[in-house]
Amino acid sequence: MTRKDELIVGLDIGTTKICVIVAERTENGIDIVGIGTHPSRGLRKGVVVDIDATVSSIKHAVEEAELMADCEISSVYAGIAGSHIRAFNSHGVVAVKDREVSPGDVKRVIDAAKAVSIPMDREVIHVIPQEFIIDDQDGIREPLGMSGVRLEAKIHIVTAAVTSAQNIVKCANKAGLNVIDIVLEPLASAEASLAADERDLGVCLIDIGGGTTDVAVFGEGSIQHTAVLALGGAHISNDIAVGLRTPFEEAERIKKKFGVAAARYLASDDVISVPSVGGRRPREVSRKILCDIIEPRVDEILNLARQTLVREGLERRIPSGVVLTGGCSALEGMLDLAEEIFESPVRLGMPTRVGGLQDVVRGPMYATGVGLVLYGAEQDRQTTRFRIRDDSIFGRVKQRMRDWFYQFE
Ligand SMILES: Nc1ncnc2c1ncn2[C@@H]1O[C@H](COP(=O)(O)OP(=O)(O)OP(=O)(O)O)[C@@H](O)[C@H]1O
Ligand SMILES: [Mg+2]
Repeated sequence: MTRKDELIVGLDIGTTKICVIVAERTENGIDIVGIGTHPSRGLRKGVVVDIDATVSSIKHAVEEAELMADCEISSVYAGIAGSHIRAFNSHGVVAVKDREVSPGDVKRVIDAAKAVSIPMDREVIHVIPQEFIIDDQDGIREPLGMSGVRLEAKIHIVTAAVTSAQNIVKCANKAGLNVIDIVLEPLASAEASLAADERDLGVCLIDIGGGTTDVAVFGEGSIQHTAVLALGGAHISNDIAVGLRTPFEEAERIKKKFGVAAARYLASDDVISVPSVGGRRPREVSRKILCDIIEPRVDEILNLARQTLVREGLERRIPSGVVLTGGCSALEGMLDLAEEIFESPVRLGMPTRVGGLQDVVRGPMYATGVGLVLYGAEQDRQTTRFRIRDDSIFGRVKQRMRDWFYQFE
């Protein structure tokens, strides 16, 4: 099949759902041609805890996507999240060799900035240039060909626990897929839902999923901060299950149908019927009580996300406001509560920048999957604007994965 060569596939291994998105490169950009989703059973807080269950979910999602796109999927870009993710900023300085910045100088300065000690149990998954400084001129995004004697680079480094990353590759591998690269989920979500002008001005993306909340802050066009919190919608449902003494599945349903982020946003206080456990009769509960259970958890999630910004001194540097993605952003009143907490404008982030079956992926929970596909497409473009196509970095990633594959054989 000729089409197979042009396909880019994103594999979002989420805590509640596994999502496979197949896209095709066209003259005008990227077209979505297939999607497959299946409930995820083998993850907890964004990390694989049951390989067989995850492999089975991946296989189902892949089959569905293959049927829809009429193709055979062999290689994917996989997402990674979880509280084991650590990210920090670093910088390096080198002398420019021939008074004009060459690709070799850029590579050397990135290598200098990368030269920080990383514990043995952690792997670098991203090295993203934020800006270059030539002599005293800062804010340079594309240094190649510029004159100067001193080149400085500021970079953002993301590391993950080796074992968690290995488990993702292992699951994909066992499902018959080759992993081209592992991508941090907040970066993927940002890729799908943020506009270029928002990134320039300063914006915070928060993806509230089932088991994790991903944070990514952009400013001056590049990434400033990333964080992953091990809290998400499953915790809200769990609170409802415990608080209203109802099965988890019912708590999920009640949350989606009647839940509001804070009781003060309720227009009227209706009464809802809540099924009980152990064969007891359903009970009538006021909707206000339901919202009183939801609010503290949503408040906690949003405040923890905000605190990661405060720690980095970024809370006043997001004039474009906050963009919410992930399944939980569909909770009624979520945007209002986020606006109160962040004291900034908040909007819902929908996957954009894609064509084809875009209606099928037009939900905030597909931001990560669509972002993985866009990330894959971006990797082929020669640019240092957002991330450097440095063969040593990506070569190393591929070599690392090849090493893992050999370990599993
Ligand atoms: N309409 C809705 N109202 C409230 N919550 C919702 C709604 N729709 C989905 N959710 C919640 O969104 C969560 C799932 O979101 P999502 O699909 O983004 O998670 P995931 O990608 O599987 O997980 P993660 O990214 O944390 O690993 C679930 O907790 C679900 O209850
Ligand atoms: Mg997710």
